Amino acid sequence: MWWRGNQLSGHCRSLFAFNRRRLSGIRNPVTKTLTKWDPEIAAEIARRHAGKEGALLPLLHDLMHEFGCVPDAAVPIAAEALNLSRAEVHGVVSFYHDFRREPAGKHLVQLCRAEACQARGGDAAAARCEAALGVAFGETRADGQVTLEPIYCLGLCASGPAALLDGAPVARLKGERLERLLAEAQR
Ligand code: FES
Repeated sequence: MWWRGNQLSGHCRSLFAFNRRRLSGIRNPVTKTLTKWDPEIAAEIARRHAGKEGALLPLLHDLMHEFGCVPDAAVPIAAEALNLSRAEVHGVVSFYHDFRREPAGKHLVQLCRAEACQARGGDAAAARCEAALGVAFGETRADGQVTLEPIYCLGLCASGPAALLDGAPVARLKGERLERLLAEAQR
């Protein structure tokens, strides 16, 4: 792998492990076969959460896990199941970066844009990603090859700039290592 765990401080390792748990199951178009949008399946997922306390975020994560996104058509389904307004559900979906409205491309590059990575050259890495991949942050390239997203701290702060490529961590993204990531994202 491009980075080694023993290069990380104890704090970084803990935070990284936490973030990996948080992120698992909500993205990675490569390791999970996503289901094509189906309102019946979405309704079934929503029913599983109905009547539970604090069910909205788990429900949205389950939709992400199933479909790779929370499409607009899922909002009224979730709202009805949880007895919330559509505006409340829409507000949560649009507030959190974790929830995307459309499926990601074939490859997903999530570059850390938090402070520690910025101090280690994150802005240059971000500009290089946009130029080389031909897509802006928050967007999927027109050919569906790659989605580029910002992410905020992976717990790899001492090894920044850091990113996830299809859910796998990559660190010290400068020079050749950054170019290798960009090449892999375009295979
Ligand atoms: S700021 Fe922590 S991994 Fe980027």
